[in-house]
Amino acid sequence: MGKDVIIACDFPSAAQTLEFLDRFQGRKPFVKIGMELFYAEGPDIVRQIKARGHKIFLDLKLHDIPNTVKKAMAVLSRLDVDICNLHAAGTAEMMRAALEGLTRPDGTRPLLIAVTQLTSTNQEALEHELLIRSPMEEVVMAYAGNAKRAGLDGVVCSPLEAARVHEVCGSAFLTVTPGVRFADGDKGDQKRVMTPAQAKKVGSDYIVVGRPITAAEDPVAAYQRCCDEFID
Ligand code: C5P
Repeated sequence: MGKDVIIACDFPSAAQTLEFLDRFQGRKPFVKIGMELFYAEGPDIVRQIKARGHKIFLDLKLHDIPNTVKKAMAVLSRLDVDICNLHAAGTAEMMRAALEGLTRPDGTRPLLIAVTQLTSTNQEALEHELLIRSPMEEVVMAYAGNAKRAGLDGVVCSPLEAARVHEVCGSAFLTVTPGVRFADGDKGDQKRVMTPAQAKKVGSDYIVVGRPITAAEDPVAAYQRCCDEFID
C-alpha cells in the first residue's frame, strides 16, 4: 500500500456511513472506522464496507493485558481489516502478543500501528497525572521506538512529528497522521494542523481526514483535493 488519504467516517450509524460512501460512485476511498461507529453497529459494518471494496483502518486503540489483546486482534484479523491499532503504553509484551494474534494461519496480517501519546494529552497532564517526567517529544519518540522494536509497522502521530519519527525509526516505519486541514479551511478542535500538501512534504505515509471531507458541501471534491495535494 502506498501513500493514501484515509477518510475518518465518524458517523453514528451504518445508514449514514453507507449513504456517505454512495456519493463516491464507484471510487473506493480508504475508510477509517472508529469506536463510535464500531460500537454502534458492531463488526457487521466492517464486513459491509469491506464487501464494497474499501480498505479499512479499524481505529479501536486496544490496550489490555497481552493475552486479551492477542485474542481480540485474532478476531479483528478475521474481519480482514487492512490496518488496526493499539496503545504503545500497553508495553512491548502487549504489542508482540497483538502481532501474534493478528497473524493469520497463512502468515498474512493487517498492518499494526501504535498510538504513542494521544494528541489530547498535554505536557501538564503527562507530568502531573500520568507522572511521566520527560518532554512530550521524547516520550513520543521513545514509544515509537518501542513499537518498532516490537515489530509493529508504524505509529499514529501528528504530521508535525512525522519527520522525526522517520529519522528515529527509519523511513519504512509508517506515519499515519490526523490533524489535517485545508489552508483555507476551518480548524475545528484540532490545534496543531497541516495541509495535505505540507503533510506530503514532511513525509506522512497516510493522512487521516475527517470533517474537511465529511462536512464539506461536496465531499467528493474535498476528497479529490486531498488526493491532488497529498498523492503524487
Ligand atoms: O475531523 P477530523 O479531520 O479532525 O478527524 C480526525 C480523525 O482522526 C478523528 O477520527 C479523530 O478521532 C482521529 N484522531 C485524531 N488525533 C489523534 C488520533 C486520532 O484526530 N491523535
